[in-house]
Amino acid sequence: MAADRHTTTTAPAPAPPSAPATSPAPATVPGSATGPATASAAAQGVAAGRVCLGEPQLWAAAAGSGCAVAVAHPNIALIKYWGKRDEEWVLPAADSLSLTLDVFPTTTGVRLAPQAAGDRVLLGGQEATGPAQARVADFLHLVRELAGRREPAVVDSRNTVPTGAGLASSASGFAALAVAAAAAYGLAADPAALSRLARRGSGSACRSLFGGFAQWHAALDAGGGAAADRVSLAEPVPAAAGLEVALVIVVVNAGPKAVSSRAAMRRTVATSPLYRPWVASSVQDLTQMRAALAAGDLNAVGEITERNALGMHATMLAARPAVRYLAPASLTALDAVLALRERGLAAYATMDAGPNVKVLCAAGQASQVAAALREAVPQASVVVARPGPGARLVAGDGR
Ligand code: DP6
Repeated sequence: MAADRHTTTTAPAPAPPSAPATSPAPATVPGSATGPATASAAAQGVAAGRVCLGEPQLWAAAAGSGCAVAVAHPNIALIKYWGKRDEEWVLPAADSLSLTLDVFPTTTGVRLAPQAAGDRVLLGGQEATGPAQARVADFLHLVRELAGRREPAVVDSRNTVPTGAGLASSASGFAALAVAAAAAYGLAADPAALSRLARRGSGSACRSLFGGFAQWHAALDAGGGAAADRVSLAEPVPAAAGLEVALVIVVVNAGPKAVSSRAAMRRTVATSPLYRPWVASSVQDLTQMRAALAAGDLNAVGEITERNALGMHATMLAARPAVRYLAPASLTALDAVLALRERGLAAYATMDAGPNVKVLCAAGQASQVAAALREAVPQASVVVARPGPGARLVAGDGR
């Protein structure tokens, strides 16, 4: 699954519960805020639920043993989350706003294993060890505290996107894990509670609980700690009906990044003289973004998206030592985006903690934009994404 690579950090210590523990009654975990699971997602869920279900025909036999399979899609921030004000509770410095995609889902099965000595974690079919295993185990520990349970679990998680490459694998990964683990441990949770829970695994994951556009509230008024934890979650953001967008993803390098986003944002907050000014401008960007989405103004949405991302990268470049995720091919893609605009197309770039470039455009012009980017960056693989659904349970007994 999606645990981001910790190149310079250690897994966080188990955190205290963020909500009252519930009795181990069957969970109420709505699958999605946005619609039914697709047949293929469900099929993937059952496939990835190997550890949960054994063979599909054993599904009935597994009922009651505390297992669940969930699917979640990555989200890409148009207004970025970059920097925490509270590391332990994963509380951000400012609100962020994202688009959940319809590509690159993560499917995660969680099965309780009462006889096991500890949590076992399979990522992409491989046994995880070290910080990757510990990050998932810490998250399960949190779920257990909330659910008042003690049994270890087996987690089997499969990404369809390269992990740790700035393609939001930790968002889809922890969103799917939150939904599956809550159901397996019988933690009653609605999408808002699951968003809060997913946030504890990886901040950006809280937005993948919802389809389409979503805003993660920083809850600054609530301060920090447990009080802010209760209200720092994502919510869907309405957009004008006529605003039909696509995100063209230019994968210039699918390899894992050298510095994890967690470590990079920590360094940026601590050392970059540009960080505070960027946060202040990001607050304004978010207000203007909400208005642009409500008005269905694609050019305004795109301009705000691009300036917010470039500003975030500027803060990292000014960190000491600098964090630079953009590669020569990223800049080639940015030039191609400018050229598309000069030709009159609404195309705007955003980049995360990696060299890959995502281009926001009108859904009706996505194939034209993709073709131009394939030509400009021939070594890249280019994927067209549309708005996708929120995280959902696809199988499980929710015990
Ligand atoms: C650049 O959510 O991966 O993608 O909370 O430390 O796990 P942690 O960080 P993570 O950071 C994502 C940063 C980003 C911007 C964004 O998604 O908003």
